[in-house]
Amino acid sequence: MTRRAADSPIPDKPEDPFPLVTDYCDIVGGFGRGSAELGIPTANIPVNQLPKAINDLELGVYFGFAKLRPVDHGEEVFTRKNGAKVLMNYGRNLDRQNGDLDPMPVVLSVGKNPFYGNDFKTVELHIIHEFKDSFYGAQVKFSILGHIRPELNYTTKEALIEDINIDILTALEALEMDSFKVYRSQLAD
Ligand SMILES: Cc1cc2nc3c(=O)[nH]c(=O)nc-3n(C[C@H](O)[C@H](O)[C@H](O)COP(=O)(O)O)c2cc1C
Repeated sequence: MTRRAADSPIPDKPEDPFPLVTDYCDIVGGFGRGSAELGIPTANIPVNQLPKAINDLELGVYFGFAKLRPVDHGEEVFTRKNGAKVLMNYGRNLDRQNGDLDPMPVVLSVGKNPFYGNDFKTVELHIIHEFKDSFYGAQVKFSILGHIRPELNYTTKEALIEDINIDILTALEALEMDSFKVYRSQLAD
């Protein structure tokens, strides 16, 4: 596994303050650069719905599991700050047969996205799974089991993409360990 200079060592099992787990949170429209520019879609979570222990985490990249649930709501169109329109389907096309409703590995950023010059904190999840459709407006419950690295600034989009891809591999490798894998069932309901 590629380890980078800024990476935290991955311990044998979750270490204090982990595991952290949330209730179901709303998935809201971010700026949409994750899918459009980076090719790495992210689900943005309103920070005021998160437990204090998560809001108190250092800015950085973390891993855990995430579980989605659809919301019973008609489709709506949401307009992003840049004017782009997003179809909110509230997760109605999530497909149980495709595993979309199972607990899935997740890599998440608790950050201010310096690459994009934001000055406020966002929590964004990239769920490591092949979805067939978007699920804006659905809800997600997730755990955080470990820290991968601090948030960094990048000079190119390509360098950011490359690092997120390494984050994904790091998360998958850690979550394969039995001592982390057991937390998958923590999210089953
Ligand atoms: C696993 C992961 C790691 C990330 N790491 C960084 C980072 O180190 N620095 C940074 O500026 N942004 C980082 N980002 C945030 C991206 O810049 C962010 O997904 C992008 O701003 C798209 O957000 P949007 O969909 O709200 O437009 C990371 C995102 C993810 C999912």
